[in-house]
Amino acid sequence: MRKPAPSDRPLHDLIADRWSPRAFSSRIPAGETLARLFEAARWAPSAFNEQPWRFIIATKDNAEEYGRLLACLVEANRAWAVLAPVLGILVTKKTFTKNGKPNPWAQHDGGMALENLMLQAVAEGMFAHGMGGFDPDKVRETYNVPEDFKPTTAFALGYPGDPAQLSVDYREMELAPRERKPLEELVFSGSWEMASPTVKP
Ligand SMILES: Cc1cc2nc3c(=O)[nH]c(=O)nc-3n(C[C@H](O)[C@H](O)[C@H](O)COP(=O)(O)O)c2cc1C
Repeated sequence: MRKPAPSDRPLHDLIADRWSPRAFSSRIPAGETLARLFEAARWAPSAFNEQPWRFIIATKDNAEEYGRLLACLVEANRAWAVLAPVLGILVTKKTFTKNGKPNPWAQHDGGMALENLMLQAVAEGMFAHGMGGFDPDKVRETYNVPEDFKPTTAFALGYPGDPAQLSVDYREMELAPRERKPLEELVFSGSWEMASPTVKP
């Protein structure tokens, strides 16, 4: 299902078409297709080129591994994410490798890598849905994540599916219009909350 952004100005299709569905097809992406998504993530920018992102993934063709990752999600996400053929967790490194100092941009940069992955997914006819609703301690324990790394964001990934598979509540969300704050609330010039003339309608 396509759900392009009803944007005020024309956007590149990759950006307009990215969204966060809950209905996924059971089709498992080919390994090479999946690898391309992580290649896209790999080429994200990062502070001092630290590349603080790591990914833990599980695909449905390995039911046991898939189940271990699914169990890390909160129940409200598990309910729909179980439809997705691929689940993943973005983990970010909290410190710079070269000097051990805290990296204040680690999660920011991890987020950029995940967005790269999401946009490449759209180019491949797939979609990824980010999730803050997961148990980071459980991820740490399940996968032996070292203290210096933070389980940051979970995601469900796959080809789009039929919203009819979803429960009524989730189906309503799936079909609801996409919304964003107006640009004047987001872009300032001169002083805080002074809308930049650049973005005034
Ligand atoms: C870091 C992050 C955490 C999110 N957590 C959840 C979540 O736990 N459950 C969920 O259903 N959606 C979650 N979302 C999806 C957002 O609700 C969604 O991106 C937002 O409503 C905008 O919709 P769109 O992505 O379709 O444009 C999350 C998204 C991000 C980026």
